[in-house]
Amino acid sequence: MSNGVGLDVGTSYIVLAKNNSNNIEYKEFRDAFYIIKPTTPVATKMIEKGLNGKIFIKDSDNSFILLGKDAIEKAIERNDSAKRPMHKGVVSSKEKEAKKVLAFILKEVVGIASEPGEKLIFCKPAQPVDQEDDDFDVGYHEDVVKSILAEQGYDARAINEAEALCYAGLEDTDYTGIGVSCGAGMTNVCVMLNGEPTVTFSTTKSGDWIDRMVSVAMGEPDSVVQAEKEQGDYVIGQTNENPVLEAVCSYYDRLIDYTTKYLSVALSNHKALPKFKEPLKIVIAGGTSLAKGYVETFHKKLKENNFPLPIKEVIHADDPLHAVAKGCLIASQVL
Ligand SMILES: Nc1ncnc2c1ncn2[C@@H]1O[C@H](COP(=O)(O)OP(=O)(O)OP(=O)(O)O)[C@@H](O)[C@H]1O
Ligand SMILES: [Mg+2]
Repeated sequence: MSNGVGLDVGTSYIVLAKNNSNNIEYKEFRDAFYIIKPTTPVATKMIEKGLNGKIFIKDSDNSFILLGKDAIEKAIERNDSAKRPMHKGVVSSKEKEAKKVLAFILKEVVGIASEPGEKLIFCKPAQPVDQEDDDFDVGYHEDVVKSILAEQGYDARAINEAEALCYAGLEDTDYTGIGVSCGAGMTNVCVMLNGEPTVTFSTTKSGDWIDRMVSVAMGEPDSVVQAEKEQGDYVIGQTNENPVLEAVCSYYDRLIDYTTKYLSVALSNHKALPKFKEPLKIVIAGGTSLAKGYVETFHKKLKENNFPLPIKEVIHADDPLHAVAKGCLIASQVL
């Protein structure tokens, strides 16, 4: 089998997929950073000592840029929120360090190509259907990622994120069905017919939106909400005694309602939509889909929101956090 590399460049996680003697090996990195600015030389020394073993950049102005999950932990420790080099699926225009941080993280994750020009497929989001066209463009993001990867020796190409999920999750239906990747910044959708992506789109509401809305409702920092959302015990559609988790459930319900409404509208009378002979398999992946009850609620709300096509089943991908990276790896071996 030829080698090749798959890379899920996500708002919240960067995930690498590689073949290692017939096994797929994954490596993930939390896409976050936190700047620590010491005010005295002694503090600089102490902070540097405390960062021993962690991944960080020492910046020209003597500040430290802590990267990955350590950045999130440090921010929570200081009752603050970590920053992100990406926002809503693309390199952030809000943070001036975004490009530098993203380059450092990507290089850390992918390393040097095993041979010059090694094929690498990474994913990019689709154009959102819920934003003005001018406010979002994936072109610059794609070029930035490509050139960072080229510096490491890779021949990198982008495919759509949900298309990648379809390659990983629709093998048993001859690559026919729908993939829905529920990430941090975006929900990406691809309708595939025999390996051909026919309709792709995204919405800009997903896990980050839940964190934001719960944060507004409860007066807690986004990163605290995020940590509770990821670790807490709750089921979407059920009441919860913990007020933060109660709010998380409430916004999950709204998010799924929003996504399934867009999906239903997007596929009603869509010009590019093929005539499917059989009821559709829908495969769901991404970190946001890990909450208990997500897939069931998604199925229920599709019906409530008059999804226009017959559904065979709505299932969770085998490995929801790695499915997109796996699909990129599959694509890199076919291309
Ligand atoms: N156990 C969990 N329960 C609920 N949400 C979770 C859980 N684990 C991760 N998440 C959420 O999943 C999201 C990250 O998912 P994922 O890694 O699929 O996104 P991404 O690919 O980085 O982002 P995007 O595709 O939007 O660019 C975050 O919002 C995170 O808070
Ligand atoms: Mg993603």
